[in-house]
Amino acid sequence: MTLRNLKLENFRNIKKRIFEFDSLVNVIIGPNASGKTNILESIFLLSTGKSFKAKIEEEMINYDASLARVEGKLEFEGNREIGSGGNLDKPNVSSFRQANSLEVVLTRGEIDIGGDKFEKAPRKKLLVNDISKRLVDFAGNLKTVLFGPWDMDLVTQSPALRRKFLDNVLSQVDREYRRSILSYEKGLKQRNRLLLRIREEGLSRSQLLFWDRLLIKNGDYISRKREEFVDFANKLEIGSNFNDFKLEYDKSAISEARLEQYAQEEIAAATTLVGPHRDDIIFKAKNSNQKERDLSRFGSRGEQRMAVLWLKLSEFCFIEMISGDKPLFLLDDIFSELDHEHRKIIFDLLGRKGNYANFSLGQSIITTADDHYIGGFASFLMIKL
Ligand SMILES: Nc1ncnc2c1ncn2[C@@H]1O[C@H](COP(=O)(O)OP(=O)(O)OP(=O)(O)O)[C@@H](O)[C@H]1O
Ligand SMILES: [Mg+2]
Repeated sequence: MTLRNLKLENFRNIKKRIFEFDSLVNVIIGPNASGKTNILESIFLLSTGKSFKAKIEEEMINYDASLARVEGKLEFEGNREIGSGGNLDKPNVSSFRQANSLEVVLTRGEIDIGGDKFEKAPRKKLLVNDISKRLVDFAGNLKTVLFGPWDMDLVTQSPALRRKFLDNVLSQVDREYRRSILSYEKGLKQRNRLLLRIREEGLSRSQLLFWDRLLIKNGDYISRKREEFVDFANKLEIGSNFNDFKLEYDKSAISEARLEQYAQEEIAAATTLVGPHRDDIIFKAKNSNQKERDLSRFGSRGEQRMAVLWLKLSEFCFIEMISGDKPLFLLDDIFSELDHEHRKIIFDLLGRKGNYANFSLGQSIITTADDHYIGGFASFLMIKL
């Protein structure tokens, strides 16, 4: 799958522009504040239906506009079997071409229809081939792996970020996971509200039963899938630089028995104390004596960053394994964050060189403000801002 082109209209600082992409390496180069991260944000929006940085979606609309539009054209090459891993170099002879268009339209709740008149409009519209879709059906059509400077602290930052990471990976390849997460989060809010009323108003605990069942059912699915990803990452072999990393799934299981066990504490705290919203994943590395250490506490900065890169590559391979499609690899300005050795690993991965000759990324879009890094790429399409 290739993102052939991207059309932006009033998306943040970009008034109107069309970008054409190569099916392998694309480098977007431009000075600070020229809109590089914004472009990747718009691609991520096409992929997930959400922003990775906006608190309020309206932020993405250009200051002077009432409507923003992001449009992408996808191209599929080769009739690859699902789960076969796929290979862009050797498209199947009976290959088909099927262009798909994805579109996101954002408004501030109304649009200017001229003559100082305004008309009510949905704040966000998601379209596949010009047909309006719900978020669960829009997300995942374009699969992406995003890696930016903000990911560098994934090992050490709060568990919420690591759960968000897991949700993003699994949501891209699993519609049932997308549905389960939405349902679980809604249910959790309702259950917490009830717990508060039980504490404050003496409401009967039997009221919880419906929400208990809903959380157990969806929670079960969520933790099973999270476990699958962790197992996959632990078995994956990418190259000697990454062999010593491991993830440990710190699961907060949810069941009738566990909810019963925490019943009194939950009422006192007016919050649900067990379930996947309390999950975490712990990064570990094997020492030469095969003992494992927790990288958040006993890892060097460089090791922690390598572990994050390993996690992103695991995400890439997982999405490819499940969907048969290589996700689009988005790298935002990470070269300045990395030392020489780590930069070389990225260049080798992108150029399928050295240790990583067997590891093949598909299409990637890389941004940088500094043109002295681009010497590291073997061949690429340059896009100037
Ligand atoms: N809604 C908006 N309307 C207009 N401009 C916006 C909007 N939101 C953000 N911007 C501007 O977009 C500019 C570019 O942002 P962006 O983060 O994409 O730059 P960048 O090229 O990634 O820069 P850097 O190299 O520093 O990371 C910023 O100056 C920001 O003020
Ligand atoms: Mg940026």
